[in-house]
Amino acid sequence: MKRTILIMFMAILSMVLTYGNADAQLVLCSACHTMHDSQDGQEWPGGAAGPQQRLLIDSCIGCHTGATGAETADGAPIVNHTTPPTDQGASETLAGGDFYWVNDTTGAGDDTMGHNVVGIAAADANILPVNTPPGWDQAVTTGTTFNGLSMQVTQGVGWDASNRLTCAGTYGCHGTHQSPDFGGITGSHHTNVGSSDSVSAPTTVAGSYRFLANIKGLENADWNFAETAASHNEYFGANLTANRDSVATADFGNRDTISYLCAQCHGTFHGEIDDDAVAGGPWVRHPTDITLPASGEYADYNPDNGNVYNLDVPVARPAVPADCTNCATVTPGTDIIMCLSCHRAHGSNEPDLLRFTYDMEANVPGDTVDDGCFVCHTAKNGDTP
Ligand code: HEC
Ligand code: HEC
Ligand code: HEC
Ligand code: HEC
Ligand code: HEC
Repeated sequence: MKRTILIMFMAILSMVLTYGNADAQLVLCSACHTMHDSQDGQEWPGGAAGPQQRLLIDSCIGCHTGATGAETADGAPIVNHTTPPTDQGASETLAGGDFYWVNDTTGAGDDTMGHNVVGIAAADANILPVNTPPGWDQAVTTGTTFNGLSMQVTQGVGWDASNRLTCAGTYGCHGTHQSPDFGGITGSHHTNVGSSDSVSAPTTVAGSYRFLANIKGLENADWNFAETAASHNEYFGANLTANRDSVATADFGNRDTISYLCAQCHGTFHGEIDDDAVAGGPWVRHPTDITLPASGEYADYNPDNGNVYNLDVPVARPAVPADCTNCATVTPGTDIIMCLSCHRAHGSNEPDLLRFTYDMEANVPGDTVDDGCFVCHTAKNGDTP
C-alpha cells in the first residue's frame, strides 16, 4: 500500500515537474525527503542507501542518475547516465556532457574524461598535487561574496586528499562556497524560478543560471537534450581587457560569465593569458572572454555552414538574450570565446572533457570537414577559408 501511494506521488511529481516550471513546493515532501531514513530507506532508482543530508532520500548524484533520456521519471535532469551515451550532444547528453565516462562504478571510469566528483570517481591520479585544480589561484575568489554569502572556494583550507571536488558548496561548482555540499544550494530546489529562464541579473542561487551562483545565461527547457542550432542554452561572456594584461596576476572585471565559473578553480587559465611585453601576438594561454574577431580567419566562423552556431563549438554572448529568437547565428565582432567553446562542464567521451576530437588527422589538407579548432581557425586546416 505504501508503495502504491509512493508510485502515485511519483507519477504526480513527474507530471508537475515536466510541466515546465518545476517547483518542489507543489508535491508531497515524501517524494524527496524521509524523516528518519525510514520507509525502508527508499531511494531513487540507482541511488545511494542510508541517511542523506537534508533528510533527503538520495544524494545529488543518486537523484540525477538515470539509464537513458534527459530526465528521470521523477523529473530530475540526468547528468550521470548508466547506459553509455553513444556520443555527446543532442539525444545523448545534456549540455554539461555526462559523468558516465569518468564514473568508476556505473560508467567507463576514465579519469581524464570528466570532473572526478566525490561519489562518482576516485581522486584523479594524474592531477598533482592531489585534487588541486590545474591553474588554481586562490586569489581569484578570496573575499568575494554573492547575496551576502562567501564565494571563496576552499575557504582558505586548500585542496588535499580530504578536500575533494563536490557537486556543490565549498569545493563544488553549484551554489556559493560558504558551506559544504548541500549548504551551497540551500533551499534552491524549493525556489527554482524555472528551468528555462533568461537569467540576466541573478540575486539568489535559485535564480542563477542552473544554480551556478551569480552566473548569467539563458536556460534551455530540456537542458539542451533536443538542442538544434536554433534552440539551445545561451551562455554569457564579456570582452575583458583588464584581466589579461599581465601573466602574473589574475584579476576579474566580470564575475558573471560562464568562463568565470571555471576560473573560480582554474584561475590562471582565464586571467593570465597574455603578455603585453610581447609585441604582436600577445597570447601565452588560449584566450577566453575575448570577442571573436570580425577579421581574418575568425570572420569565417563555421566555414562549412556560414556563421551558423555550431553546437560542438559554441560561443557566448555579450548580453543574455531574452529568448532564442536569434540563437542560430554567430556574429564575429560581437560574440565571445569561452571555456565551453572547447570543454564540457561535467564530462565527455574525449580526454580533458573536450567537446570534440583534438586531432589534425581528420583535418588534413583536402579534408572537407572543418570541425573542432577549425570552426574558428578556419585557415589552419590547409583549405582556403
Ligand atoms: C522534488 C524533490 C523535493 C520535494 C518534493 C521536496 N523537497 Fe525539500 N529539498 C529537496 C532538495 C533536493 C533539497 C536540498 C537541496 C536544496 O536545498 O535545494 C531540499 C531541502 C529542503 C529543506 C532544507 C532547505 C534549506 O533551506 O536548507 C527543507 C526544510 C525541505 N527541503 C523541506 C521540504 C518540505 C517541507 C517539503 C514538502 C512540502 C519538501 N521539502 C519537498 C527536494 C525536495
Ligand atoms: C531528491 C532528489 C534530488 C536531490 C537530492 C538533488 N536534486 Fe537537483 N533536481 C531534482 C529535481 C527533481 C530537479 C528538477 C526540478 C527543478 O528544477 O527544481 C532538479 C534540478 C536540479 C538542477 C537544475 C536547475 C535548473 O535550473 O534547471 C540542478 C543544477 C540541480 N538539481 C543540482 C543539484 C545538486 C548540486 C544537488 C546536490 C547538492 C541536487 N541537485 C540534489 C532532484 C534532486
Ligand atoms: C570547484 C572547483 C572547480 C570548478 C568550478 C571547475 N573545475 Fe575543473 N577541475 C577541478 C578539479 C579539482 C580538477 C582536478 C581533478 C579532476 O580531474 O576532477 C579539475 C580538472 C579539470 C580538467 C582536467 C580533467 C582531467 O581529468 O584531466 C578540465 C579540462 C577542467 N577541470 C575544466 C573545467 C571547466 C571547463 C570548468 C568550467 C565549466 C571547470 N573545470 C570548473 C575543479 C573545478
Ligand atoms: C580553444 C579551446 C579551449 C578553450 C577555449 C579552453 N580550453 Fe582548456 N583545454 C583545451 C585543450 C585542447 C586541452 C588539452 C590539453 C592542452 O592542450 O593543454 C585543455 C586542457 C584543460 C585543462 C587540463 C589541464 C591539465 O593540466 O590537465 C583544464 C583544467 C582546462 N583546460 C580548463 C579550461 C578553462 C578553465 C578554460 C576557460 C578559462 C579553458 N580550459 C578554455 C582547450 C581549450
Ligand atoms: C570559438 C573559437 C575558437 C576555437 C574553437 C579555438 N580558437 Fe584558438 N583562438 C581564437 C581566438 C579568438 C584567438 C585570438 C585571436 C586574436 O589574436 O585576436 C585564438 C588564438 C589562438 C592561438 C594564438 C594565436 C596567436 O596569434 O597568438 C592559438 C595557437 C590557438 N588559438 C589554437 C587553438 C587550438 C589548438 C584550438 C583547438 C583546440 C583552438 N585554438 C580553438 C578562437 C578559437
